[in-house]
Amino acid sequence: MESRITDLKGADIGLHLISPYVGKIRPVLARHLIKTYAKPKSIVYDPFCGSGTIPLEAWACGNKCFATDLNDYAITLTKGKLTPYKSLDAVLERLDSINSCLNKDKSRKESIGIPQWVSSFFHPKTLSEVLKWTAYLKERKEWFLLSCLLGILHHQRPGFLSFPSSHGAPYLRNSKYPEDMFPELYEYREVYSRLRAKVTRAYKNFPSLDFRIQRVVRRASSENANPPGNRIHAIVTSPPYMKSLTYARDNRLRLWFLGKSDWQSLEKRISPTRTFFSKLIAASFIRWSKYQKNGDYCIIIIGDIPFNKNMRLPEFVATQAEQTGYVMVDLLKDPIPYKKRFNKLKSQISSECILVFQRSK
Ligand SMILES: C[S@@+](CC[C@H](N)C(=O)[O-])C[C@H]1O[C@@H](n2cnc3c(N)ncnc32)[C@H](O)[C@@H]1O
Repeated sequence: MESRITDLKGADIGLHLISPYVGKIRPVLARHLIKTYAKPKSIVYDPFCGSGTIPLEAWACGNKCFATDLNDYAITLTKGKLTPYKSLDAVLERLDSINSCLNKDKSRKESIGIPQWVSSFFHPKTLSEVLKWTAYLKERKEWFLLSCLLGILHHQRPGFLSFPSSHGAPYLRNSKYPEDMFPELYEYREVYSRLRAKVTRAYKNFPSLDFRIQRVVRRASSENANPPGNRIHAIVTSPPYMKSLTYARDNRLRLWFLGKSDWQSLEKRISPTRTFFSKLIAASFIRWSKYQKNGDYCIIIIGDIPFNKNMRLPEFVATQAEQTGYVMVDLLKDPIPYKKRFNKLKSQISSECILVFQRSK
């Protein structure tokens, strides 16, 4: 039954790149799965949506989409990708009006109450501006602009806002770039011009999108989320598994600006241990089976790693699905796309599996 996925081609929509996320899947793979298994215009559900790769591709394919995740950063990013402005001109106009509004407010956001680990990333004037922009964008639910801002929060390049640091997980690079040798990297950085450049990059390869199509994004756990309507024709998702990635830790600085300072508690919920993962998958299939009818598809993208001494992870997932009334109709293998997707498990993963199930009752 097994076949390999090769030769998936096509340029990525620029919106996929607005902000980084660990464990992203390849947009071309998402597109391929949606085009192959979802009925045109039907709803596609991604219960573990992460950065929103699958919902955005579903929308671009003309499908309705429903997305859930428990990570506040994932939810912001997915909402951002599903609510862009209709054109670059429209978003730049909005950006200019926000900038003039914020410029009129001469108050300086003080760094009182800001943890030292957060303020250590920024020049005080930059930090004050970032605080003003994030507060404004959050209050007005400007998810697209907020996502773009989070996407330029930290890195070592000039287009980013922090002192030199990494782009994925936030670590200062002050040993590699000491302030006395690289003083220019520690100067004030204006938010507006950088955000403008970021937004412009996001509109590269902007697809033709139908803004009337329903897109629903909710912060909810996969085992008890309520989809809109009572039928889900296709579920396409890549679940978190067995502490392979640290979704909260890697995004702790972005989460802090979203008002989520306790990333450690969040991590316990979203980077599950083996026991927690087993329960989550079992409960999720039960939940999904209530919204799927005979012939509907449920597609799980998961790394081929050992689950325990006797079983590999895809086999465990298949067993859970079969106990809930699903049959496996296809098993595809994809060569591992991004090294970052599996940092802790690199040595154990041979490939990524795409398990294609159909509801049989
Ligand atoms: C492998 S990532 C998904 C990546 C996504 N396909 C993408 O391309 O960006 C798994 C996601 O599951 C989320 N998650 C973990 N536990 C969850 C739960 N119980 N309910 C919903 N989402 C959960 C994590 O926050 C993480 O974003």
